[in-house]
Amino acid sequence: MSGDKGYSIRLATDSDMDSVVELLRHFFVKEEPINSSGPKPMDPTELYSLKFLGKGMSLVATSADGSVVGVCINNEGTPAGYADRARTKESTTNRHMKKVLTLLDKAEEVADIWNKYGIDRFFDVRIITVHGSMRGKGIGKALLEKSLQMAKERGYKLVHIECTGIYSARIAEQLGMECVFRIPYIEYKDQNGQLVFNVPEPHNEFKLFVMKL
Ligand SMILES: CC(C)(COP(=O)(O)OP(=O)(O)OC[C@H]1O[C@@H](n2cnc3c(N)ncnc32)[C@H](O)[C@@H]1OP(=O)(O)O)[C@@H](O)C(=O)NCCC(=O)NCCS
Repeated sequence: MSGDKGYSIRLATDSDMDSVVELLRHFFVKEEPINSSGPKPMDPTELYSLKFLGKGMSLVATSADGSVVGVCINNEGTPAGYADRARTKESTTNRHMKKVLTLLDKAEEVADIWNKYGIDRFFDVRIITVHGSMRGKGIGKALLEKSLQMAKERGYKLVHIECTGIYSARIAEQLGMECVFRIPYIEYKDQNGQLVFNVPEPHNEFKLFVMKL
């Protein structure tokens, strides 16, 4: 699809792993707004979501020469999976990771998706990243749009995405997703009144979106 636009989108496989790790090394761990506010970029191979790349739900965007220029890592979200993430928050010794997971957990708790929508699984868009030189061409939007389509075809009743930055949130809004939790970073403070994340402009809030299918 979209070959005339200078890129195409296909299902990711495990053989894309090395290219995706390099893409994430340069354009996710350093640029995703919350990660980039941490003390140092994490090693992309430590990203929990990476293991879902070749499981038949994730997408890559490739340029005309076949290079991977975008990725959307998806998997099935379940209450057990989210409980597991909450346990990781308790056990991790990485302070930044603990802070990130605390915010994500708070969002899930307030949004209360499992009860509110009466579901026990959703299509989870976990990581979306586009190469710096290919931004603003609609690749991010096409990756999310294709994910929404895939979710529908596979019988999911809901799609879920946590947006830490303004551009991914803009894409979710443009595709008609509903914001079920939001918090401006300037209002997210610890018990001493200190900002938890110093997120660079123009990324001003965290938003959790869903789309009912
Ligand atoms: C978020 C991201 C995937 C968007 O990818 P993209 O291919 O540039 O997205 P699109 O081209 O579909 O553009 C989405 C919107 O953001 C805008 N946008 C994207 N990059 C922009 C930039 N650097 N400056 C201004 N606007 C920008 C686009 O103009 C578009 O809005 P519009 O339709 O109103 O014009 C990309 O910015 C990225 O990889 N960021 C780093 C990783 C990250 O933060 N991931 C998301 C975490 S939740």
